Amino acid sequence: MSKIILAKSAGFCFGVRRAVNEAEILAENSDTVINTYGELIHNPQEIERLSKKGLVPADKIGSLESKKVVVRTHGVSREIIENLTSSGHEIIDLTCPFVKKIHNIVNNACKEGIKTVIIGNGAHPEVQGICGWCDGNYIVVSSEEDLYKIPSDEKLVIVAQTTLDRDTWDRLCDKITAINDSYVIHDTICSATAARQKEAAELASRVDAMIIVGGRSSSNTKKLCDVAGKLCANTFHIEQASEIDVSAFENFNTIGITAGASTPDHIIKEVFITMENIKSQDELNFEAMLDESLKTLNTGDTVKGIVVDVKPNEVILELVGCKYNGIIDLDNLATDTTLTPADVVSKGDEIEAFVIQVDDGNGQVRLSRRKLEQEKSWQKAQEAFEAGEILTGKIVEIMQSGVVAVCDGLRMFVPASQASERYMADLSELKGKEFPMRIIDITEGRRRRIVASIKSVLKEESQKIKDAFWADVTVGKEYEGTVKSITPFGVFVDIGGVDGLVHVSELSWKRISNPAQVVKVGDTLNVYVKALDTEKQKISLSCKKEEDNPWTKFMASYKIGDIATGTVVRLVPFGAFVDIGGVDGLIHISEISWRRINHPSEVLSEGQVVEVIIKEIDEEKQKIALGYKRIEDNPWEIFKSTYSEGDTVKCKVVRIAAFGAFAEIIEGVDGLIHISQISNKHIASVAEALQPGTEVEAKIVEIKEEEGKVSLSIRALLEDAEPAAEEDVATEEVPEGAPVYSTEDAAEAVAEEAATEEATEESAE
Ligand code: F3S
Repeated sequence: MSKIILAKSAGFCFGVRRAVNEAEILAENSDTVINTYGELIHNPQEIERLSKKGLVPADKIGSLESKKVVVRTHGVSREIIENLTSSGHEIIDLTCPFVKKIHNIVNNACKEGIKTVIIGNGAHPEVQGICGWCDGNYIVVSSEEDLYKIPSDEKLVIVAQTTLDRDTWDRLCDKITAINDSYVIHDTICSATAARQKEAAELASRVDAMIIVGGRSSSNTKKLCDVAGKLCANTFHIEQASEIDVSAFENFNTIGITAGASTPDHIIKEVFITMENIKSQDELNFEAMLDESLKTLNTGDTVKGIVVDVKPNEVILELVGCKYNGIIDLDNLATDTTLTPADVVSKGDEIEAFVIQVDDGNGQVRLSRRKLEQEKSWQKAQEAFEAGEILTGKIVEIMQSGVVAVCDGLRMFVPASQASERYMADLSELKGKEFPMRIIDITEGRRRRIVASIKSVLKEESQKIKDAFWADVTVGKEYEGTVKSITPFGVFVDIGGVDGLVHVSELSWKRISNPAQVVKVGDTLNVYVKALDTEKQKISLSCKKEEDNPWTKFMASYKIGDIATGTVVRLVPFGAFVDIGGVDGLIHISEISWRRINHPSEVLSEGQVVEVIIKEIDEEKQKIALGYKRIEDNPWEIFKSTYSEGDTVKCKVVRIAAFGAFAEIIEGVDGLIHISQISNKHIASVAEALQPGTEVEAKIVEIKEEEGKVSLSIRALLEDAEPAAEEDVATEEVPEGAPVYSTEDAAEAVAEEAATEEATEESAE
């Protein structure tokens, strides 16, 4: 007596079952014939059965009888869809979601101008339908002979016919990618097909004979024959039970049966019971065997399903190998409850979920994707904890004692002390950000709990950076750093995980009183290492480079006697400081003007650009003495070229002293009218005759060029005009040397002036 083994995966796949069920309901609810565009599935017996119910295949738009048109599971081209729509037909699209997904992939590739490579049979309606979504930019590869079509210099998207066997797919993909290295591969082999072929192979390898049931034009049935035929020499392909020659199986102890995805259950059953040696008991067992092939479910099972509908609050799945639909509500969809169903899944996706209720009363199975997600994540978290692995978590909640991070769907508590490398008074700025973290405690049981630390990872990372820095740093090495903080004595600069100090004196060649004048936190600075203390791990940095040293530049550019252009930066009572390319020089007050001034501000102002003469350079002390007075403007020179002894000049009294009055002849040149020379009459005091501001005419009686002194006499002028009066005043002759104010008073006055000037010069130095 032979043993019959029926493959669990035998018969309708979910795509065919869905199409047949929906088309049948349509036909039952219609009074008229409904056309299917092409055969709904590849099984002549099933097509005949459906035709009797009013579902009649048509392969041209011109031959359609009905307004409603059902699109077959293999799908059709975009052109056919558009033609049907434009000719006023209502389309009921029963294209398998797996096939529909391929249409979307190739259509998107086509929009981006990328060529599609379809690995499969170009004559198969599914492949023809896929080609029809590529706008002509595709290549079909069915074997190595087609590889010459593959371009080497064009971007490619590679997809598979859903029923392709995996060996062919792997082999051809390897060859295509060896020709062209710019590709994206989408493995679109249907998992139901792959599972069916795998089971067929496994069954064929342990039975004496195999019966493969399915349409002769069915691609996936042919593949099953190929797969089984390689492992079992007695493999038979039949479409229906009537083809069975029972005597051919008499000598076989074990016989395996499987069927293609388009083979209906009733045909499989007929095959099963037709086998000569089947007892009535076996016949009874068929239903149980068939039921087993349609998976039974238990709460807690993990199932696979294809997303067939995405609603705002739930997702509907067609469960693979099961007669039920599955439903996942919003709460059970994802751990991140802010996501909508459309954020998580799309139609056609194959997903896994936990069964949480086998039948909710409506023939639907309640599922939870979130639970499965969390279970998997929990396993991973345990492994990560044991391995000390670093995970990435997003901070989703701020609490008083810490923050909550979500990592791979799991909530992890991060205590405040572990939330950052340094103390943070306000943790709210962490919300919404992602951080590396490590699990530091995990509690199993009913109240599972995970505690994580961001600090531990950050500290470890910064220590690695520091170690690498100290292994590499040398005096003189240059860095680009960021200003971290500013103090009155300098700024701390981060030069790659390690902070160094730039002292205020090392910030610039210019004098800076407060670092905040020139930098702010966050600025980028180019610095070099001035000194290192590896033991204390302290670094002194500097921004001042020798090639930028303004003193060196000054010495290379100027010498004594040169004229330089500078800017007045500071006025002080004894002079003015002028910046010449970063070096300050002093113009002493006596060098500012030829005339006597009381303060530099009478001539200069801060910010004024001036031309100065370099008078002295003290290289050791790095001091420069400058002059602002110009030789050509020297009033003494002007005076000498204009006046001679004996000339009469008009002048104004600018100062009076006990021994006489000083009168300005031209700007910068004063002459002394000794008291004895003020009048041809006796006067008791200078003020009696002259006041500052009085304009007088006087005679130049002597010019002392070397000393730069001029003696004036009003009396001489008067005597020139009134010779008779000369004798009257003869008794009051000017003492010897009087024209050069040689009186004691004059000498004192000169000494006094000299002393004042010396004192001023000293203070300037
Ligand atoms: Fe679809 Fe796979 Fe069946 S592609 S029609 S579910 S074999």
